[in-house]
Amino acid sequence: MMLLPKQSCKKVKGIVISCSFLLLSCAPKESLRVNLIPKPAYMEFSGGYLKVGSNQQTSKGESGSLTAVIDSELASGPEGYELVVTKQGITLRGGSEAGLFYGQQTLSQLLTPDGIPCGVIKDSPRFKYRGLHLDVSRHFFPKEEVMKLLDAMSYYKLNTLHLHLTDAGGWRVQIDKYPKLTTDVAFRTESDWRKWWDGHDRKYLPEGTPGAYGGYYTKDDIRKLVAYAAARHITILPEIEFPGHSEEVLVAYPELSCSGKPYQNGDFCIGNEQSIAFMNDVLDEIIELFPSEYIHIGGDEAGKQAWKTCPKCQALMKREGMQSVDELQSYMIHQAEEHLLSKGRRLIGWDEILEGGLAPEATVMSWRGEEGGIKAARMGHDVVMTPGNYMYFDFYQADPKTQPYAIGGYTPIKKVYSYNPAPSDSLTDGEIQHIMGVQANTWTEYIQTPEHLEYMMFPRALALAEIGWTPQEARSWKDFKPRMNAHIPVLQQMGLHPFTLSDELEVTMHVDTLKKQIEVMLDAEKYPEEIHYTTDGTIPTSLSALYEGAIIVKDSAYIKAALFKEGQLQGSPTEKKVDYHRGINKPIHYNSKLYKGYMAGGMNALLDGYRGGLTYLDGRWQGYLNDLDCVVDMEEMTDIHKVSIRFMQLTGPGVFQPGQVELFISGDGNNFTSCGIVPTTLSNTNPDLLFQEYTFNGDWKARYIQVKATEVNNGFIFADEIVIW
Ligand code: ACM
Repeated sequence: MMLLPKQSCKKVKGIVISCSFLLLSCAPKESLRVNLIPKPAYMEFSGGYLKVGSNQQTSKGESGSLTAVIDSELASGPEGYELVVTKQGITLRGGSEAGLFYGQQTLSQLLTPDGIPCGVIKDSPRFKYRGLHLDVSRHFFPKEEVMKLLDAMSYYKLNTLHLHLTDAGGWRVQIDKYPKLTTDVAFRTESDWRKWWDGHDRKYLPEGTPGAYGGYYTKDDIRKLVAYAAARHITILPEIEFPGHSEEVLVAYPELSCSGKPYQNGDFCIGNEQSIAFMNDVLDEIIELFPSEYIHIGGDEAGKQAWKTCPKCQALMKREGMQSVDELQSYMIHQAEEHLLSKGRRLIGWDEILEGGLAPEATVMSWRGEEGGIKAARMGHDVVMTPGNYMYFDFYQADPKTQPYAIGGYTPIKKVYSYNPAPSDSLTDGEIQHIMGVQANTWTEYIQTPEHLEYMMFPRALALAEIGWTPQEARSWKDFKPRMNAHIPVLQQMGLHPFTLSDELEVTMHVDTLKKQIEVMLDAEKYPEEIHYTTDGTIPTSLSALYEGAIIVKDSAYIKAALFKEGQLQGSPTEKKVDYHRGINKPIHYNSKLYKGYMAGGMNALLDGYRGGLTYLDGRWQGYLNDLDCVVDMEEMTDIHKVSIRFMQLTGPGVFQPGQVELFISGDGNNFTSCGIVPTTLSNTNPDLLFQEYTFNGDWKARYIQVKATEVNNGFIFADEIVIW
C-alpha cells in the first residue's frame, strides 16, 4: 500500500470539490436517486449524506476528511477503486493513479444537492480497452473539440480515443519527412461530403488557398492532446491507413501508387519498395508523437484491383510465391508489424488484416460484425469488438425522417446498450480472455460540425461506457434508462450538444404460433414514460388506452402509439401494422436465388409475422441481388382476398424498389394465373429511406400464391413481409 504524498492528496481533494461545483449547479433538483454511469460493479448505500459545503469549507462536525490512497494490491486491479462515504468523510483507495482517478469521477457523479450519499462502492472495469473512435479525416475537428470529448470520456471512464488521422478526406497530422501530406492534401475544395466526394469532382487544395476546407494537427497540437488525454487516463490511439483508404497520400506522392499518377488510386503500390519505406518513416514519426502501446495501421477496404495488373506488385507476388492479392496486403501489414515491434510497439488493424494471413502478434479490431474478432480470438490474437450494427455512431439513432442526414444504418441507444462484446456462444472461456474490450466508431463523412458530432456521440457513448465497464450481469436497459435520462442535462452542462432522446416508441413483437397471436411491446427512450395507443389506426390521445403491458393481436391491428407528457402528445405517433395472417409459417419455395448475407433468419422470413423495421440490417428484411420469385403453399384450396408485400429503399447503400410486383395464383402449383401488376411509385434517385407496400385485392380461390418482384436498378431489393388474407 502506498499513501499518496500530502500534495497529491490535496490535488485529489481539489478535483473532487471542483467537479462537485459543476454538478451542484446542474444536477436536476428531483434527481436524488443515484445516477452513476457506468454503473459500478458493487454499490450499497446506507442512508444519509455527507454534506459538502458550497464554499469549499466543511461545516464544523460535518464533512471531514478525504483520504485518498493508492493500494497496488487492491483486489479490483489497477483501474479499480474502493470508495467509502460516511457522514464523517470519504476514504478512496485506488489500485493505481488510474483507479484513484476513476474513484474521483464516481464521487463527482455521486454529488446531489443534499451532499454525497453514504455507502460503499467497490468497482473495477470489465474490459481494459474502452474506446471511442473519431474520424478527423472526412471532416476535421480542432484540438479544442477533441479536448472537450476527452473531458466527457474521462467522466464516463472511457480510456482510449482512437483518432482516424488519415483517409481520402485529408491527411491530418504533420509529418516532417513528407511535408506535402499537410501542405498539399490536408485541404480540399468542399466541406460537404456529398458535394465533394459523392459529387465525383474531388480535388485537394494547397494549404493557404482562400476558401479551402480542411486542417491538420501540428506536432505541437498532438503533444498537447496526448498530454491532455494522459492527465485523464486516456490513451490516444493513432491510426494511419495502409494499404487502402490512401487517396490523399497518392495525390501528394503519386509515385507510391500503381499508376504513378494522382487521382487514380486509393491503394499503395505494395510492389514498390518506396511504399514500405514511406510507411516505416511515417510510423517512426507517429511513434515519436504518440506513446500508446498500440499503433493502428488501418487495413480496411483496400480495393486491391490495381495490384492485379501492376508489374511491380505482380513481380513481388512472384518473388514471394503469393497466390492472391490478399497476400500482398498481408505482406505490407507484416512489414508494418515487424517495424512496430522493433520499436517496442504493437500493431492493431481492422479485421481485413486477417485476409491473406494475420501478422504473428497483431490485434484485430472487428468491425464487419464479430466474425473477424471471433476468428482472431480463436487463433490466440487479442481483439477489440466494434461491430457496425451496434457500435457505429455515424448510423441513425432515431427514425431517419426526424434526423440529420446520416450514412445509413440504425443504432439507437437501446441497440447499442444491448451489445455484449464477449460472444460466449462462440468462444471458450480461454478464448474470451482475448477480447480486450469494445469501441464505438464515429465516421464523419456526413458530420461537419462539433455540435453535430456531439449529437451523434452522446448519449450513445454513455451506453458504450457502461458496456465497457460494468459486469454484464449487472446491466439492464430498464436500469440504464432512467440514469441515461438524468445524464442528458449533465452532458448539456458540460457544453455538449447531445441527442435529447427520441419521442418515438420502439415496437417489438412476439409471434406466438401456438396461441395464434402476436404480442406487441412498446418501449420509450424517455423516462418516466406515459404511452397511450389505439389499434384502429386513429391518432391516440391522452384518453386512449394506457400502455401497461403487451398488446395482444389475434388478427389485424393498426397500432398507433405515442409518448405523452402532462397530457400532451410528444413527437408523432409510432405506427405498426400487425397481422396474424393466414400465410404465417406456410411453406415457401423460391424460384430465385436468396442472397446469403441477408436471409433474415431463414426461408420463412417473409411469412413469420415479423415486419422489417427501419434498417435492412435488423434481421427481418430479406435481400436479393436479382428478382424475387417465390411461391407460398397454403396447403389447401383457400379463399384469398388480399395479398401484400413491402419493400424498402435506401439508395446510398444500393437498396432500391423493384420495378414492379406481379401476383399469380394456382390450384395445382403448375398453372399460374396473373392477378395483376403493381408498379413502384418511388423514384430511384430519392436518397431518403422509403417504403412501398404492393397490395393486391381480389376474390380468389387458390392453393399456391406466387409473388414476382423485378429488380431493375442493378442493386439490392429488400422485402418483408408477405401478408395473406
Ligand atoms: C470501417 O468502417 N471501414 C472500418
